[in-house]
Amino acid sequence: MRILLDTANLDDIRYFNTYYPIEGVTTNPTILAKEGGDPLATLKAIREIIGEDKELHVQVTEHDFDRIIDEARAIVDYLGINTFVKIPVTDIGLRVTKYLSDRGIGVTVTAVLTAAQAMLASNAGASYVAPYISRSENLCADGVGTVADIADIFEVSGTDTQILAASFKTAKEVLDVAVEGCHAATIGSGIMKMLLSHTTTDTSIAGFEKDWKEAFGDTTLLKLITKK
Ligand code: E4P
Repeated sequence: MRILLDTANLDDIRYFNTYYPIEGVTTNPTILAKEGGDPLATLKAIREIIGEDKELHVQVTEHDFDRIIDEARAIVDYLGINTFVKIPVTDIGLRVTKYLSDRGIGVTVTAVLTAAQAMLASNAGASYVAPYISRSENLCADGVGTVADIADIFEVSGTDTQILAASFKTAKEVLDVAVEGCHAATIGSGIMKMLLSHTTTDTSIAGFEKDWKEAFGDTTLLKLITKK
């Protein structure tokens, strides 16, 4: 399962883009509002950090059909290739999705809470659907099960639409959707770190270093091989 970073924090994006195998960045109006400043400058800086080969998902802020289309085109012109326009799953959203995807603009249909919504978004031509996991689970619904249903429906239909699961609150939710055949997940910085860190990994590494040092002192294999 491919992993994207769900933030507009430039320090976090620089760090994770350097060390972790992320495939892109997702934002939404709330995420951009959290960082403050000039949202356009923030988005441009994100594109500069991740480069043109990685995906940047940006949500529209207009409301009526014509203005959303204009905004979507402006976003893609401003941020370049591999920019996906996030469109909430409403009736206007489906119409916009069909219009944009017919014209080669990648659409991520967002705020998806049910498999039915995902099916409609896929039929409208969405590149991605973004089911919200923890927002669903917080309502005692089965967010992970919804991803499993979407994966089944997409497999039967043979659609090219991919599942980009979002809104995670635990690392386990991320693993659970991966097991269900989710194509990609977008994750905040805290959960990204939790996916990697483990106390037994840390104590194992400390043990290797201690044993080596006790036997061989300050040398390393590089020093022994190159005699430098
Ligand atoms: C994707 O970008 C979604 O908008 C985001 O994951 C929603 O996350 P939240 O439920 O934590 O706000």
